[in-house]
Amino acid sequence: MKKFYITTPIYYVNAEPHIGSAYTTIAADILARWHKLKGEEVFFLTGTDEHGQKIQEKAEEEGLKPKVFVDKISKKFQETFKLLNIQNDNFIRTTDKEHEKEVKKVLQELYDKGYIYKGFYESFYCIGCEQYLTHSDLLDGKCPIHKRAPDLRKEEAYLFKLSEFQNKILKLIKSGEFEILPNKRKNEAINFIQQGLQDISISRLKEKVSWGIELPFDKNHTCFVWVDAFWNYITGLKQKNKFDKFWPADVQLMAKDILRVHTTIWPALLLATGNKLPKRLFIHGYFTVDGEKMSKSLGNVISPDYMVKQYGVDSLRYFLMRNIPFGEDGDFSENLLVERVNNELANELGNLISRVLSLAERKLNGKASKGFIDEKFADRLDVDKISNLMDNIELHTAINEIMRFVKECNRYINEEELWDVEENELEVYIYTLLEAIRIISILLSPYMPQTSEKINSQLNIKAGDFGDCEFGLVEIYKIKKKEILFKKFDVPKPPEYHEKKEDEIGFEDFDFRVGEIKGVKDHPNADKLYIEEIDLGKDTSDKLQVVSGLREYYKKEELIGKKVIILRNLKPAVIRGVESQGMLLAAVKEKKLSLLIAPKSRNGGRVFINLREKARKEVTINDFEKILLKTKDKKVVYQDMILRTEEEEIKLDKNIGDNAKIQ
Ligand code: MSP
Repeated sequence: MKKFYITTPIYYVNAEPHIGSAYTTIAADILARWHKLKGEEVFFLTGTDEHGQKIQEKAEEEGLKPKVFVDKISKKFQETFKLLNIQNDNFIRTTDKEHEKEVKKVLQELYDKGYIYKGFYESFYCIGCEQYLTHSDLLDGKCPIHKRAPDLRKEEAYLFKLSEFQNKILKLIKSGEFEILPNKRKNEAINFIQQGLQDISISRLKEKVSWGIELPFDKNHTCFVWVDAFWNYITGLKQKNKFDKFWPADVQLMAKDILRVHTTIWPALLLATGNKLPKRLFIHGYFTVDGEKMSKSLGNVISPDYMVKQYGVDSLRYFLMRNIPFGEDGDFSENLLVERVNNELANELGNLISRVLSLAERKLNGKASKGFIDEKFADRLDVDKISNLMDNIELHTAINEIMRFVKECNRYINEEELWDVEENELEVYIYTLLEAIRIISILLSPYMPQTSEKINSQLNIKAGDFGDCEFGLVEIYKIKKKEILFKKFDVPKPPEYHEKKEDEIGFEDFDFRVGEIKGVKDHPNADKLYIEEIDLGKDTSDKLQVVSGLREYYKKEELIGKKVIILRNLKPAVIRGVESQGMLLAAVKEKKLSLLIAPKSRNGGRVFINLREKARKEVTINDFEKILLKTKDKKVVYQDMILRTEEEEIKLDKNIGDNAKIQ
C-alpha cells in the first residue's frame, strides 16, 4: 500500500492557537484525508514547540514554571485542533521524554562525527523569530517582523558545520530531489543558499537559557531551539514505531516565515546524520486580517474557537481554503466568511441538497432506482482534474472545481425545470442528481468532513472513497431528508468607521482592553480614590496606572488579580496630583457599583461587539459620555449589542440589575 506522511510545523506555545496555526493544520488535515480517501496509508503529525528563550520569558511573565505553562498552552492547541476536526495520528511535544532522548542522541552523533565544534558566536538574534538575522535582514536596525532591535550575541557556543552542506543542499533542491513548492519559493531558497551558508551556533549557555535540552557532551549548554524542534518530524514517527515505514516525509507544510531554516539547517542535519531528505516542502502564504497584519496590539488576532462557535467548523475550514489561493498571501475577514457561507454553502450546496431531496420526497416517496444516466450532465464533473489538483496541493483550485459542479447541478435542475416534470420521468433525473450529490459528498469530505457525513446520512448511504466517484454505483436510494445543512448569517455590519463624519463617535473608537489589577494603593490626596496598577499584557503596553473611585465599594485585597476592563486610549489626566492613564469601567446604579470583568480573557485582549476595528488614537471623557453603555440581563450592551472579548462575554462582578450606567 502506498504511504503518505505529512507534517505541519510544530507551533510555539508562547501564545494560544490563532487562525494562522489553524490554517496550516486544516490544510494538512485536508491533504491527509484526501490521501486516505485514495486508499493510501497516511500518517499526519502536528504538535507543539515548547523550549527556548521566548517561552521561558513568557512563562516567567505569567509567574508559572515553564513546564506548567507549556502544559497549559499545549493542551489548548490539542483542544482547538479537536474542535477543528483535525485527524492527526500523533501530537508531538518537544518536552516529551522520547523526543528529548532522541535529540540528545542526535547531538552526540553530530559531535562524534565532528559536525559540532566549540567556538564563539557573534550575530544578531531576534527572540521574536527565535532566529539569527543577517545585516541585510534588518530594517532601520530592527527585525522587520517584530520591530525590535535584535540582540547582538557573542558568547561561547557550539557550532554546527552548516557551511559544509551548502553545495549538496543546493544540488538536491535544483534537481528537484528535495522539492520546494511553489516554484517562487524554490528560487528564493536557491538565492539565499547561493549567498553562502555559515556555520551556526546550536547552543546557548545554560545560565542564560535554561529551558532547553542539555547538550549531552557539555552540561553548561542547552540546545538551540530549532535543532530540537526539527527533530520532532522524526521522533513523532518513532514514538509510534512508524519511522521505517513512513520516513521520508511526503509533504511538509509551512508558511514562508520558516522557509529559510527548513531549506538550510533542516536538510543539513538530515544529511549529517545519514537520513533521507523530505520529498517535498510546500510553502503557503501568510495572511492578514481585514487587511492588517494580525497582532495582539491591534486586537485583531482571530481565535479559531470563536469562529467555530460562531459559524461552525466546516464553514471555517471551507472559507480558509476557498478564499485564499493556497501558496499566496491573502486576507481573512469575517464579513467575507459570512458572504461565502451564505452565497456558496447555504445558497448553492445546501439548496441543491434540499431541492433534490424535497422533490424526491414529495414526488417519489423518497425512492429512486438506478436507471439511465444523462452522460452529458455527468460529464460536467471532471473527477480526474480534481484529483490532480489535490495531488499537486492546489487546494484552492480543487475546491473551486467541486463548487463549480455544485452550481452545475443547480443549473441542471433549472434547465430541465424539474419541478414540472411528471413523476414517471422524474426518477431518472433524481437518481442522476442523487448520484451527483453522493460524489460531491466524497470529494468534499476532506474539506468538510462533518457536512459530508450529514449529506450521507440524508442520502442514507455509507461514506464512499475515491474509487466510488463514478455515476451509477448505487442500485436504489431511500432517502431521509433532515435539517438544512447551512443556515444563513447576517453579514456583520460594514464598518461604519469609514463612513462616519469626523466628529461622530461610535463604540469602535474606544480602545477597551482587559487588564489585570496587579497593585492597589490609597490615593494620598483623596479618600475615595485608589491608584491601581494594571497589567495589559506584554504585547499591548505593559503596565498602566489608573486612578478610580472604588474605595467605598471594594477592599484593596478584593481587587488584586481581578481582570477588569480599561479604556486605554483615554487622554491621560492628572487627578488630584496623580496621573491616570486610563479609566476602569464599572456599572453604577443607586449607590451600588460593580466592576466589569472578563475573568477568562487574556490580559490586553480587546473588548469588541462584532467588529474589530482600529480605535482612535485618543478619546476624551466627553466622547465617552456620548456612547451609552449599560447593563442588560447581567451583560453589558451598547445599542443592544453585547460587549465581549475573544474568550467570553463581559460579566458583572456583582449583581446590579438592568440599566445600570457604565462609567
Ligand atoms: N516553532 C516554529 C516551527 C518549528 S517547526 C520545526 C514556529 N512556530 S510558529 O508558532 O511561529 O508557527 C509558524 C507557522 O504557523 C507558520 O509557518 C504557518 O504555518 C503558521 N502561521 C502562523 N501565522 C500565520 C498567518 N498569519 N498566515 C499563515 N500561516 C500562519 O515557527
